[in-house]
Amino acid sequence: MSIGIIGAGHIGLAVAKTLSRAGIAATIANSRGPSSLAASVAALGPTIEAGTREQAASADIVLIAVNWSKLPAAVAGLPAWGGRIVIDANNPVESPLFKPADLHGLVSSQVVADLVPGARLVKAFNHLRADVLASDPQVDGGRRVLFYSGDDSAAKAEVGALIDRLGFAGIDLGPLAIGGKLAQFPGGPLPNQNLVRIG
Ligand SMILES: NC(=O)c1ccc[n+]([C@@H]2O[C@H](COP(=O)([O-])OP(=O)(O)OC[C@H]3O[C@@H](n4cnc5c(N)ncnc54)[C@H](OP(=O)(O)O)[C@@H]3O)[C@@H](O)[C@H]2O)c1
Repeated sequence: MSIGIIGAGHIGLAVAKTLSRAGIAATIANSRGPSSLAASVAALGPTIEAGTREQAASADIVLIAVNWSKLPAAVAGLPAWGGRIVIDANNPVESPLFKPADLHGLVSSQVVADLVPGARLVKAFNHLRADVLASDPQVDGGRRVLFYSGDDSAAKAEVGALIDRLGFAGIDLGPLAIGGKLAQFPGGPLPNQNLVRIG
């Protein structure tokens, strides 16, 4: 199972760090090309490599962590998704103003799903600050909690298994319309809840 990451900012690199910690390979991409990522990738260890957006997008599981307004450009012109899994780690808001995007009554992952037709979308890795997400999930005698949600049970199970392998305690929040809303920032009650499951 190959993993790609589109977006190599705070969240993309935080996820790459957790993958590296678990010895899992991934290809990470930004808008400026692999050479711009040489230093950050070297710091992450041998399992993480920089690639083009197309290389990252060709993986079995593709995590997208890009500024909300740049999402359409970040996925434009990519080959068909063909049922592969997209993990939506995005929130519909941007610094410095943090003005919520107009979602026309949808949850943000439903908007992202429309940008990646044919992909099986799972919302995850979006509810914690990047520095917390990047830190060791085995903490205080337990495992840090990550929430995930989605409308495709098999895709959700695969992402849940990955979350487990990374050392987190995954909690399935149900379909996007419910779980996506609970974990979405701003608006949901779960963002920034840094929980640890003991036992
Ligand atoms: N920061 C957090 O603590 C946090 C927490 C939860 C969720 N989130 C969400 O995660 C997402 C990413 O946030 P972030 O803080 O990681 O942002 P960030 O640090 O600004 O990084 C954004 C990344 O997206 C890349 N990007 C932009 N346009 C692209 C394109 N056309 N093709 C490929 N890559 C492109 C940028 O690459 P270049 O620099 O090369 O343009 C950069 O690597 C956002 O939706 C945010 O709401 C953030």
